[in-house]
Amino acid sequence: KILILDFGSQTTQLIARRVREARVYCEIHPCTMPLSEVKAFEPKGIILSGGPASVYAEDAPTMDKGILELGVPVLGICYGMQIITHLQGGKVARGTKKEYGPANLDIKALAGPFRDLDGKEPHKVWMSHGDRIEEMPGGFEPLAVTENSPVAAMANHERHMYGVQFHPEVVHTPQGAVMLASFVLGECGCRPIWTMHNFAQATIDELKQRLDGKKVICALSGGVDSSVVALMLHKAIGKNLTSIFVDNGVLRAGEVSEVAGIFRETFGLNLVVVDAAKTFLGRLAGVTDPEEKRRIIGHTFIEVFEEEAAKIGQVDYLAQGTLYPDVIESVSFKGPSATIKSHHNVGGLPEKMRMELVEPLRELFKDEVREVGRELGMPESIVSRQPFPGPGLAIRIMGEVTPEKLASLREADAVVQEEMRNSGYYHKVWQSFAVLVPVKTVGVMGDERTYEDVVALRIVDSLDAMTADWTRVPHEILARISSRIINEVQGVNRVVLDISSKPPATIEWE
Ligand code: XMP
Repeated sequence: KILILDFGSQTTQLIARRVREARVYCEIHPCTMPLSEVKAFEPKGIILSGGPASVYAEDAPTMDKGILELGVPVLGICYGMQIITHLQGGKVARGTKKEYGPANLDIKALAGPFRDLDGKEPHKVWMSHGDRIEEMPGGFEPLAVTENSPVAAMANHERHMYGVQFHPEVVHTPQGAVMLASFVLGECGCRPIWTMHNFAQATIDELKQRLDGKKVICALSGGVDSSVVALMLHKAIGKNLTSIFVDNGVLRAGEVSEVAGIFRETFGLNLVVVDAAKTFLGRLAGVTDPEEKRRIIGHTFIEVFEEEAAKIGQVDYLAQGTLYPDVIESVSFKGPSATIKSHHNVGGLPEKMRMELVEPLRELFKDEVREVGRELGMPESIVSRQPFPGPGLAIRIMGEVTPEKLASLREADAVVQEEMRNSGYYHKVWQSFAVLVPVKTVGVMGDERTYEDVVALRIVDSLDAMTADWTRVPHEILARISSRIINEVQGVNRVVLDISSKPPATIEWE
């Protein structure tokens, strides 16, 4: 396995994703990881991430020098390369000019991360740094140059130590994935055995052993994470797992029957569907504040779930779809960030229920979870489902949630889903949905004046929901969605398109 030490770069997780795509297991740890822990980890190779700081800055993140003496191959990326240089007696110059954007890499030697590349053509790479290497540490030689960087990559062949000034992990470095694969497979000698087929089998076997004779419950939401968790546990312990699906009254059209159909009928899960719509909608009546809506839905969910769990009797474990990005200990150089929205998923459950947790997806990235789902034979309608927020349609109706507004939004949402799927755009975007804006505007239908609500379309591209941009969907598709909503949905006479990016807007409207 590979150890990635994080110096605070925005793209550290991408490094891990690329390594995993090369079918090698890796973990991200803070750069402050003590030498003893690094040794205990027994990495076959170490990758040092980039970072926002300058090695000379006060409080600049650093690492135990001894890690570089372990005799394990090391690849430093950007700041990672500068820290190697800094700690080994080379010189990093404070950049007077920042280098940001594409550059052409002229490779001098096909070694280290470049061993599998074609050295004839210059390779496009993505630069993003202020400082640069002025003097390499002893034993190093330049591996590649760019117009602005005489040391765009360096190597100490004897010690299998490499540094690159650019970012191989981002898509703007087209050969970057090959470079990282070359490093972990070629230089570090890792075997490409991290596959989701192997993972699924091994994990199900482990769960079988660990949970033998135990009772487990899980909350199934129909999203990909909880679905994969439920199915894995079902394969491991069968009827000893009870899955609870709470209908909170703010789900999309047809969702309850779809999820019940797939999990109960196709997969034979022991599934309890709780119709709690009345309770949720009752408590939401008259509530207009977004945070208040989120709070009510979160609390009510826990309450309903606990009640159902109590009916089952003795339960030993609670299974959850925690993913690797939730687990990574982050290196933060900024203060705590303000609460923009209080997210509701099943986050509040474990503390309240004081149960032991099973989190079989803790090591996985989202893409890997999807692959596991496919391995287990889960239908594509679940596996590649767009994210849907815990508070559901309640935060897509501005202001009060009423049964009438819910009905309108459900219909409008169904139209968006259907047209996005039919046009093949559903899988190309991060999310596509309708928002009900209860602002009356004037329209005309036949000879009649209408005075009805607005539906906004929110269709965005994103990699991780942290940032997003509105998708340039072809006008014909938008036209079809618009005319269908206006014709089919009662109480709506106007459709508008949301063309805001995140930031400064957010993806959801509340
Ligand atoms: P925002 O609106 O903050 O959304 O840009 C970012 C992503 O998170 C989803 N979202 C939620 N997911 N519980 C969830 O599980 C929530 O309370 C919640 N609120 C927003 C949103 O759909 C988008 O993908």
